Amino acid sequence: MPSDFYEEEEFQGQLNGNVFKRIGGLMRPHWRWVTGFLIAVILVSILDAYFTYLSKQIIDEGILAGDTAALQRILIQYGTMIIIQAVAVFAFVYLVGVLGEKVRYDMRQMLFNHLQKLSLSYYSRTPVGWIMSRVTNDTERVADLVTWGLLDSTWGVINIITAMGFMFAINWQLALIVLAVLPILLYVAYEFRKRILDQFRKVRKVNSKITASYNENISGVRVIKALGREDENLNEFKVLSSDMRRFGYRAAWLSALFLPSVQIISAFALGGIIWYSGAHVGTALLTVGSIQAFVSYMTSILWPIQDLARVFAEMQRSLASAERIFSLVDTPPEIKDKPGAIDPGTIQGDIHFEHLSFWYEDEMPVIKDLNLTIRRGETIALVGSTGGGKTTIVNLLCRFYEPKRGRILIGNHDYTDLSLQSIQSRIGVVLQTPHLFSGTIRDNIAYGRLNATPEEIERAARLAGAHRFISNLEKGYDEEVGEGGVLLSVGQKQLISLARAVLSDPEIFIMDEATSSVDTLTEAAIQKGMDAIMRGRTSIIIAHRLSTIKRASRILVIEDGQIAEMGTHAELLKLKGKYYNLYTRQFRFEREDAYDVFKDAAAAQPLEG
Ligand code: UTP
Ligand code: MG
Repeated sequence: MPSDFYEEEEFQGQLNGNVFKRIGGLMRPHWRWVTGFLIAVILVSILDAYFTYLSKQIIDEGILAGDTAALQRILIQYGTMIIIQAVAVFAFVYLVGVLGEKVRYDMRQMLFNHLQKLSLSYYSRTPVGWIMSRVTNDTERVADLVTWGLLDSTWGVINIITAMGFMFAINWQLALIVLAVLPILLYVAYEFRKRILDQFRKVRKVNSKITASYNENISGVRVIKALGREDENLNEFKVLSSDMRRFGYRAAWLSALFLPSVQIISAFALGGIIWYSGAHVGTALLTVGSIQAFVSYMTSILWPIQDLARVFAEMQRSLASAERIFSLVDTPPEIKDKPGAIDPGTIQGDIHFEHLSFWYEDEMPVIKDLNLTIRRGETIALVGSTGGGKTTIVNLLCRFYEPKRGRILIGNHDYTDLSLQSIQSRIGVVLQTPHLFSGTIRDNIAYGRLNATPEEIERAARLAGAHRFISNLEKGYDEEVGEGGVLLSVGQKQLISLARAVLSDPEIFIMDEATSSVDTLTEAAIQKGMDAIMRGRTSIIIAHRLSTIKRASRILVIEDGQIAEMGTHAELLKLKGKYYNLYTRQFRFEREDAYDVFKDAAAAQPLEG
């Protein structure tokens, strides 16, 4: 995996409002919560500004005027508002939390739903890490934008507007001074925030390289020692590490400079206010309380300004995340039901491949004009050298991919006229490297038919020849298999997949036999399971073991995307052609293989020591 895998890309699109519109679309279903939350935020901001105004009144009308009645009245007002504000604060914090969860939930569902629809070709093109990063990091970031981002920006804007409003109400000349400084403050704060974020992004970038470097150097330690690469690797690491230190220093320097700069600029505004007050204090226009209120307003808008600057600076990242999520959601599945696709109720019947041609990405044909009829109930074995196109044929039959030329008929239907669900739910596939889901063995078998009873599960396992090894496990069917089935051997995983296929009772059975050798007992068990499931079903087996091959009614040698030879075991041996070569090589292979392994082991000895 490339080291800069989880790296962020900058927002590339133009701010044409499209992304905003779609983010707005995420919030639309929850407009009640958004409205409630905005009302609460606005209420809190206005009350905040009003408190400062009340302080001015306390000084001017209460204390300085010596009017205790007025003082009492103002204090009661003050108390009531504090209670109202407490309720509003509670409301917006709660509402923003709920809103965030709702948006996260929607995005998760939307992505998961779409990911399941995307075709296999998408997954072979797109690295898993990239997709994972979309569903985890990017949803988080977009959820943050529509909650905390929205909160901070409305809070910031309302606070500044209300504070300015009160300032104008008290004294418009002083308010003008503040208004003049405001854009400068915002600009400076924004520039700082952007630069600080830039440094942090560089730090993260280098950090992912450092992690990758640790990873490679630890997991590849034997090779590194054997090749004497320690010094070179250390030097490479030093460069990365000092880069990271440099970016970190710069981030610290900028962060430290940020607050003092903002304070100095606002000090100019304060200086202006004090200078102006010096000339006018004591006049009816400017009371002591007013000056105090101005100073408070001035300092109280510093925080919203910083918040706004931060939200704007971070917005680029969030928009980039939103773009990536939307582009993923907009990727159309290459294979989907035609309008009016039907479910024929059963897909039993003969299968015809007619002039089938197929290629993956480039136009180099992998399957070339293949014609084949598989009779209902027949067992076909596909054999042939690696890369010949066996798995591709199976992928096409399962409709993981669709033919580029020609067609596949199931029964009498072109299979693209049938619904995907009707085909794929009636085909049972055991893959070359079977996939288990984390959970118990029982869960994994039940995946073949979710409503199966424990008795049915056990029956399927017995039929598949898996029961014996399962009952030897400490917890039997309740044994955890670990993530991806890591706690089991390849042979055991195949037995469980077989049981899963038996339970699903498919109409067509497909198996890509494991090439890795399993012990003879497991092999016998797998064979027994395959016999059980193949009985009376159309079966296509990509076979590596002679025992399976011999059982097939027809053997197809697939070479270079075409059928090179076809017939029974005896017929093909007599032919002394490709099958004969493959078959006789397999027996020689066992001896030569052992010899090669021995040679490799002997050569590796000195390095391991
Ligand atoms: P197959 O995967 O069909 O070959 O690839 P196979 O006969 O099953 O081979 P083994 O026995 O499992 O090893 C056929 C060709 O298609 C290409 C492969 O490179 C191979 O040349 N291919 C396969 C792709 O280009 N893209 C894919 O996603 C898969
Ligand atoms: Mg294959």
